[in-house]
Amino acid sequence: MKVCIIGASGKLGQYMVQHSLDRGYEVVCVCREQSVGKLARFAGRVTVVPGDTNDRAVIREAVAGCDGVLTVLVPWGMRRYASGTAQAVLDFAEPHARLAFSCGWHITRDGKDVYSWQLRALVAVGGFLARLARVVDLNDQVAACDLIFASDRRWTVVRGSDLEEGESQGLPVWSRHVGDPVLASNLTRRVDFALFMVEALTDDNLVQEAPAIVGRLSESARRHAA
Ligand SMILES: NC(=O)c1ccc[n+]([C@@H]2O[C@H](COP(=O)([O-])OP(=O)(O)OC[C@H]3O[C@@H](n4cnc5c(N)ncnc54)[C@H](OP(=O)(O)O)[C@@H]3O)[C@@H](O)[C@H]2O)c1
Repeated sequence: MKVCIIGASGKLGQYMVQHSLDRGYEVVCVCREQSVGKLARFAGRVTVVPGDTNDRAVIREAVAGCDGVLTVLVPWGMRRYASGTAQAVLDFAEPHARLAFSCGWHITRDGKDVYSWQLRALVAVGGFLARLARVVDLNDQVAACDLIFASDRRWTVVRGSDLEEGESQGLPVWSRHVGDPVLASNLTRRVDFALFMVEALTDDNLVQEAPAIVGRLSESARRHAA
């Protein structure tokens, strides 16, 4: 199995690289030129294609021949970074490839998610201020996911809860909708978010699903997971 990890130099990306290597996958990494050094510990074990993740030529080269593509969707700047990345992956990934994209709970596929006032306030106020400062455009991550949801590709959009560092607790638990009691703890280890992304590539039950995840040892998961 050959996988491409787009946004490989970030925290989530590096965990996905490690999980993929642990499975014996051949790994191609895409990251910004200035971040190539962050992948030094994987030198000799991965191929690195440097460049912006919304650069279509970069993505075209990186995903060629890959059976799986793991994409960290980040709404940096005001240049359609997330939606440009998503569109390039949808356009250039191999027809059979499994595609997994990361985002947060704030993304909704069908409008049936039920959010706490805290999350709504954070997205509204934080999103407004970040957009005002032209640092982050949360709307572009929404646009990216809308492109994916409308696609007939073999995608999974993994919606992460709040994240923390720490040892793996195993594969997170998921639900189709935020607001489901199983998700109430709203906390996942970042290493396990990455694990879920990598596992999604080989789980056909997750094709065209947008699972919202939570740590499997979180209180709500232990109480409500069947
Ligand atoms: N943080 C949370 O609490 C949280 C919660 C739920 C879901 N998520 C989701 O998890 C995923 C990973 O997020 P993360 O917060 O954990 O961060 P992360 O894994 O550290 O990833 C950040 C990514 O953004 C890139 N980046 C940073 N500055 C950039 C810039 N100015 N222009 C372009 N790219 C830039 C980084 O690349 P470089 O290495 O090149 O800097 C890296 O690939 C995202 O999809 C996010 O929506 C995060």
